[in-house]
Amino acid sequence: MATLAGKVALVTGAGSGIGQGIAKKFAEEGAKVIIDYVGHPEGANQTLEMVRAAGSEGITVQADITDLAQIRQLVDAGYSAYGAIDILVNNAGLEKEAPFTEVKEADYDTVMSVNLKGPFFLTQYFVQKLLSSQKPGRIVNISSVHEDMVFPGFASYCISKGGMRMFMRDLAVELGPMNITVNNIAPGAIETPINKRMMENQGQMAALLKNIPLNRLGNPGDVANVAAFLASEASSYVTGSTYVVDGGLMRSYHEQ
Ligand code: BGC
Repeated sequence: MATLAGKVALVTGAGSGIGQGIAKKFAEEGAKVIIDYVGHPEGANQTLEMVRAAGSEGITVQADITDLAQIRQLVDAGYSAYGAIDILVNNAGLEKEAPFTEVKEADYDTVMSVNLKGPFFLTQYFVQKLLSSQKPGRIVNISSVHEDMVFPGFASYCISKGGMRMFMRDLAVELGPMNITVNNIAPGAIETPINKRMMENQGQMAALLKNIPLNRLGNPGDVANVAAFLASEASSYVTGSTYVVDGGLMRSYHEQ
């Protein structure tokens, strides 16, 4: 049974990786998908083809979520196309690696804007539109195991994801009375462009796999399955939670 039939979902950063996997899965479940991307349209067009191949429909919209005017254009484009947006997936994100003592202000600002400020104001506008149409809604944030777990060399990334954790908890309480649920998915190491460099480094991969009890990297579909659940009726009593999708990474500890 298509669990998202009749729904409209907006997925940020849907031109690659986890966002693309979520757009595809949502389409398989019957949702129409607004595919946000920034930069090159090729990936977003590929996502749109996947959505159509799944028997659904969608639109691609170029919008930089760090810019409030573009946030409005993105949401408004969805309303113009389909008259509603029921589900928001805050997926777009990035990381910058540097020892703490060498972090550049510009990199810090980029990480915070994309990972935290963007979701904050996109969610704000999404919720304003829901309230004015008096409709319930679903918010799913793709955070990371690093909303809770340390990652030396990635301090700004960890801070942004920790921020997403409190953002989700706070909104779950504030928006619950409006029948809007808010949950996070915390992926571990997933086969996506963000991990390209690591996946090409055999030594790093071997060390990482030692920490993953299920002994493989995840794939976007692993995350998308949980996102589909959190967007569906089956999770109607779930809010304020983080779902960890990491093959056991977070619980794993080795001496040597
Ligand atoms: C990061 C990856 C990392 C993974 C597990 C993710 O949030 O984006 O770079 O491999 O966490 O540590």
